[in-house]
Amino acid sequence: MTRNRRYCPKFWRCSKMCVFVIGSICFLGIYLFFIPVIFNYFAVLAKMKASFASEFNDTQPFRFIINERDKCKDGAPFLILLIATKADEMLHREAIRKTWGNESVVPNVKVVRLFMLGANDKDQNEALLWESRKHHDIIQQDFLDAYKNLTLKTMMGLKWIINYCGGASFVMKTDTDVFVNTEYLIQKLLKPLVPLSQYFFTGFLMRNARPHRNIASKWYVPKDIYPAESYPDFCSGTGYVFSGSLVPKIVNASSKVKFLYLEDVYVALCLDQEGIKMVPPPENYLFNIHKVSFSPCTYDRLITSHGINPNEQIIYWETLQKEKHECGK
Ligand SMILES: *[C@@H]1O[C@H](CO)[C@@H](O)[C@H](O)[C@H]1NC(C)=O
Ligand SMILES: *[C@@H]1O[C@H](CO)[C@@H](O)[C@H](O)[C@H]1NC(C)=O
Ligand SMILES: *[C@@H]1O[C@H](CO)[C@@H](O)[C@H](O)[C@H]1NC(C)=O
Ligand SMILES: *[C@@H]1O[C@H](CO)[C@@H](O)[C@H](O)[C@H]1NC(C)=O
Repeated sequence: MTRNRRYCPKFWRCSKMCVFVIGSICFLGIYLFFIPVIFNYFAVLAKMKASFASEFNDTQPFRFIINERDKCKDGAPFLILLIATKADEMLHREAIRKTWGNESVVPNVKVVRLFMLGANDKDQNEALLWESRKHHDIIQQDFLDAYKNLTLKTMMGLKWIINYCGGASFVMKTDTDVFVNTEYLIQKLLKPLVPLSQYFFTGFLMRNARPHRNIASKWYVPKDIYPAESYPDFCSGTGYVFSGSLVPKIVNASSKVKFLYLEDVYVALCLDQEGIKMVPPPENYLFNIHKVSFSPCTYDRLITSHGINPNEQIIYWETLQKEKHECGK
């Protein structure tokens, strides 16, 4: 007991001291470590929010670096394909030119193919200029080419149509990783609609979609950018088709609609502003936002399939051309 009593307080004093010293060091360490982390967190958050609240909207005049002013000088096309792409997707573009994006895909139907890009570094742009001189199917403006600027890309395409290619019957916006059965699109969906007596807009219809409020989401939209709890019905940006007469409507409305980086939602907000409704496609299997496994007779009866690489574009297209005749109606 006595020994313990003498030993204990001493040990206790020592250990209390140790705890205090070690505690202080730890606290200081954590403090010094976390202050920058916390500050950094807020800085990153602020930066992210700023990028959503981009002041860039389509009232902002961006300039063309590459343009195709004469693309439609021989008359208005039946269909304009607006394909969002990035500089390094040269193989994707090559594959599309040879396959579904071939402007002579349907005899006697005028199709215009345009790849849409923002600006990037100089070396890549040299290659792009060369490609443009060869194929005359590229338009590019001087906004930075980034995912959050996709809306600017689509608006560039629509404004290009107003300035250089008015009177087109239909427009399709799509991406380079999408297989588009342009033959089905033209022959089975669009031609039967002519003469079109009203506005038309279709694709893979997303109904009752809500803004993603989780900052880690690819589609994150903060409340202060888009306060409402749901989006209007919109058609997935992987492929939507609409009447050319809607182009000025969308562009007109965009001066009144707050910028949102989700281009497909943004286009829907513009149409909503004009009171125009999108319609579901005549068959649900026509527009697909996932990859439909390939068989010639499946691809003979769809319009879009998403997640297709350049090799697949070529194989699918060539197989389809060879075997579609075997596929009954
Ligand atoms: C586009 O299609 C036409 C007609 O089938 C063909 O002659 C031409 O070679 C094709 N172009 C490319 C780049 O494959
Ligand atoms: C969009 O483009 C503008 C103009 O080039 C640029 O300042 C902005 O940073 C770009 N946005 C993103 C998210 O990169
Ligand atoms: C665009 O808006 C202006 C003014 O709001 C209007 O006069 C014009 O008719 C509109 N154009 C179209 C195509 O809706
Ligand atoms: C577009 O940008 C301009 C300049 O930054 C701003 O004054 C205007 O309010 C913006 N318009 C919309 C609809 O966001």
